[in-house]
Amino acid sequence: MPHPAGTAVLAYSGGLDTSCAIAWLKEEPYGFEEVVAVLVDVGQDTDFAPAVARGRAAGADDVLVIDRRDAFAEEQVAKALLTNALYEGRYPLISALSRPVIADAVASLALELGAEAVVHGCTGKGNDQLRFELAFKARYPGVRVIAPLRDRVWTRDEEMTYARERGIPVEAKPASPYSVDDNLFGRAIEAGALEDPWAAPPEEAFELTGPPESAPAPREVTIAFEAGLPVMLDGEELGLADLVARLNGLAGAYGIGRIDMIENRVVGIKSRELYEAPAAMTLIEAHRSLEDLVLTKGELDAKRELEPRWADLVYRGLWFSPVRAAYDAFVAETQRLVTGDVRVRLAAGAAVVTGRRSAYGLYAEALASYGAGETFPHAAADGFIRLAVLETELAAARDRRLATV
Ligand code: ARG
Repeated sequence: MPHPAGTAVLAYSGGLDTSCAIAWLKEEPYGFEEVVAVLVDVGQDTDFAPAVARGRAAGADDVLVIDRRDAFAEEQVAKALLTNALYEGRYPLISALSRPVIADAVASLALELGAEAVVHGCTGKGNDQLRFELAFKARYPGVRVIAPLRDRVWTRDEEMTYARERGIPVEAKPASPYSVDDNLFGRAIEAGALEDPWAAPPEEAFELTGPPESAPAPREVTIAFEAGLPVMLDGEELGLADLVARLNGLAGAYGIGRIDMIENRVVGIKSRELYEAPAAMTLIEAHRSLEDLVLTKGELDAKRELEPRWADLVYRGLWFSPVRAAYDAFVAETQRLVTGDVRVRLAAGAAVVTGRRSAYGLYAEALASYGAGETFPHAAADGFIRLAVLETELAAARDRRLATV
């Protein structure tokens, strides 16, 4: 036996993979003396008590539950909403947003304990390894990072056998046929029957949303925004985490925010992904429409160009990066006056904006109206158009000349 490797702090989910990792970290080839498992609450639908018990049974010296739900909402979720962040135009970055929060909690504890290593349970095939490792290194430069599930590829049966041999309680109910990750901002579902891109998503894959076919009667909600962030639902003031959770329930009942896509992962593979993000999709739709009312064309053009870049960056794990901070400074500057109300109609499978208003809107009815009493300077349009056509006319005249010689 080599001399003990000290302490490892693990990003623990409570699932089979990371439970087995706890036990394995104390064995060959790792040989850690002490393993501390950290379960970070980012609003996921997990029962923490059995997860903690399983972690202890697996041999963790300590299992900590760290509540970061509000911090996650106020930092990652808020910035994603301000940026209308959608990876490849569709995915609201659910998992990509939570990783930096989890990694930060793990790395901070590791620093505090003077731990030798930080550990995550990602395989080599996904994006999450990158997000964890970049965030670990950003928060604890020089730390040793261990990825047991990348070091050795386990089959589910091997894991079950390993768990039983070490007295790690394995859940009695049959395991989900999917790989699921969830948090306050939504739910990601992959693998199983979904691996065939032609196969329609089975209804049982969804949990946060109901089938649009059995949606309740349409209804409207009014969302109040302040400096770009939602602060009220139908006149009720709510913190961001609670507002998102509430809206997930409201919009989820209509099957809003179901996303079925083929996504390009960082490791070069295309994967079929299902997402449920009722609040995220409703809020982004509403927020964009308020921006359309308040921001200048120049601000909108610049911001709409930056938005997919931000999403790309965060998808690729660069949450803790100077460029993300620089983008955020630009976004924050644009959001100062994005204050007002948006009315959204919730109906089967769709959240549709039906009204927006703001004390800071640049929309001027007196200018835009086709009715009586409008103030548009019609006479000025004449000269403006004469100048606007000049170059086109010159070029066209030249082309005609060239065509006849
Ligand atoms: N494909 C998504 C992403 O890279 C979701 C990954 C979620 N992980 C999971 N085990 N289902 O962000």
